[in-house]
Amino acid sequence: MGGRVSGRLSFVCGVLGAAFLGCALFFFALTSGAERAVASSASATSSYTHVGVASCAGSTCHGRSEPTGKVVRQDEILQWQSASSRTGAHSRAFAVLATPRGQAIASKLGIGSATSAGECLGCHADPAFAGKGPRWHVEDGVGCESCHGGAQQWLSSHYAVGQTHAANVARGLYPLEQPRARAEKCLDCHFGSDKPGQFVSHRIMAAGHPRVAFEVDLFSALQQHHDEDADYIRRKGRTNNVQLWAVGQASAVSRATTLFANPRLGTDGIFPEIYFFDCHTCHRQIVDGPNGKANWVPNPGRPIPSGMPAFNDENMIMLSAAARIAAPGMAAKFDADSKAFHAAMARDRGAAVAAARRLGASAGALADAMGRASLGRGETFAIIDSISSSAITARFTDYEGSAQAVMAIDTLLNALVRQGHVSQDRARNARGAIDRAYKAVGNSNAYRPAEFRAALGQAAASIRALK
Ligand code: HEC
Ligand code: HEC
Ligand code: HEC
Ligand code: HEC
Repeated sequence: MGGRVSGRLSFVCGVLGAAFLGCALFFFALTSGAERAVASSASATSSYTHVGVASCAGSTCHGRSEPTGKVVRQDEILQWQSASSRTGAHSRAFAVLATPRGQAIASKLGIGSATSAGECLGCHADPAFAGKGPRWHVEDGVGCESCHGGAQQWLSSHYAVGQTHAANVARGLYPLEQPRARAEKCLDCHFGSDKPGQFVSHRIMAAGHPRVAFEVDLFSALQQHHDEDADYIRRKGRTNNVQLWAVGQASAVSRATTLFANPRLGTDGIFPEIYFFDCHTCHRQIVDGPNGKANWVPNPGRPIPSGMPAFNDENMIMLSAAARIAAPGMAAKFDADSKAFHAAMARDRGAAVAAARRLGASAGALADAMGRASLGRGETFAIIDSISSSAITARFTDYEGSAQAVMAIDTLLNALVRQGHVSQDRARNARGAIDRAYKAVGNSNAYRPAEFRAALGQAAASIRALK
């Protein structure tokens, strides 16, 4: 036995809103051990044929009904198929296209059946761009190789005695243990990419597609089907969840700005592609009466004139808060680049694209720096304080950034628990305040900045009390 530990997750799931944010993650216990800085590197998309879930499913492989494997659980298929939880969402990804909601979206867009539309399959099925083997089936949805990489070259060797992770990676296994690589992989579908069928434009959203909310550490926990036991740590190192969160924020900024700068994805007719903007900076009520109170409030991180929709800055805000602690030498430049980008959006597309490239490069450099930074107990508490500091909370004028901040607080407290810095029992004391912060972003249409800031401040204070 590879010394499995309890990797049980428990959730508080109530439907608090239309968006994802109905589910706060509870803590789970793992063995403590030395932290290891995981080198981050964004690997190229796998260029290997995908052989299909059936190829992984043997009862001596990943298809066991109990987690009795020596090295890995071997019941991963069962986990991935979990019918009643988010852990099983990827196995349902294709099936949701056939539901009335899926078909209604496709029909509004006039693209035929959702189950055969390229616009949907890039994310709702395994994107086997380099080729499909005979056992690959579109109905399997987001199968193993969507994340782990095409197995054609490593399927028959990856379980051999004496095999190393590095050797598998050299044959096309995707290095998901590396924060940057993991974030880039998830973002392909949980934000979008320039690869075929991996972009949810505003037109798709307006046809009824749910909003896509994402944070790599929290979402990794929500779909986790492995145990980070001693054996895992020996082979791949211990996950630093704070680092994963921070690198995830940087990767998201870099992805958004890169796609915005792409001439094919960045525009829609005479408009910029609306998907990149903060939804509620357009979707508001009109208040033009003599006593109307305008929706627009000044935002120090976003120097744009009133009357203009704002680029969605949820990850910029988080990255700014993290950079102040984890890469202080780079924080001022990142803030200046983000401001310059917002300001350029009010000029013309040429200026905005040039500023987007500079901001994307800054975020990329920060992703590398975060990947190297040592982020322990002190830094984690300091980042939580940074998120709730007045410099950052002044930027919570709209829904998206606020929702991202709650996920951050939740994820960072969980990291403190998992890393053994705060006991589960004590962490429970902060739970009520975090749940109230989730409620404050539970309904995007009822979002109120002042109420949100108060709730976030209380959540941060209750975490500070655990120091
Ligand atoms: C960029 C990737 C991407 C593309 C392209 C995409 N989707 Fe999705 N879709 C997602 C993600 C991610 C979710 C889950 C959102 C969440 O809960 O965070 C989702 C959720 C959904 C849901 C809700 C599922 C549920 O469990 O209720 C439906 C229905 C859906 N998509 C249909 C479509 C259709 C139809 C298309 C094509 C027109 C499409 N999607 C294109 C990524 C994508
Ligand atoms: C949404 C992406 C995703 C999908 C789909 C997915 N995995 Fe994973 N898997 C991960 C991540 C992330 C990890 C943890 C990081 C790592 O690989 O070390 C992981 C870990 C594992 C591990 C443990 C690796 C180790 O070194 O201990 C196994 C085994 C595994 N997955 C098998 C599967 C199988 C089999 C399937 C299909 C039934 C599958 N995964 C589907 C993302 C995914
Ligand atoms: C090939 C596209 C694809 C990739 C890659 C991918 N996902 Fe997903 N993911 C989806 C789709 C589509 C859904 C929605 C499916 C549904 O509603 O049943 C989803 C749903 C989820 C959910 C459930 C969300 C909810 O609100 O219920 C989690 C958690 C999740 N993904 C985590 C991850 C993580 C972590 C990674 C990277 C390791 C990842 N995903 C990579 C396409 C993808
Ligand atoms: C630049 C302004 C702008 C932004 C930002 C924006 N939208 Fe829209 N949205 C529109 C317009 C214009 C329409 C079409 C309204 C109509 O046809 O009456 C629309 C329509 C919609 C609709 C169809 C229902 C309706 O109200 O007509 C949905 C759903 C929607 N948007 C969701 C979103 C989401 C989700 C986001 C953020 C990712 C977003 N929008 C961002 C301008 C915007």
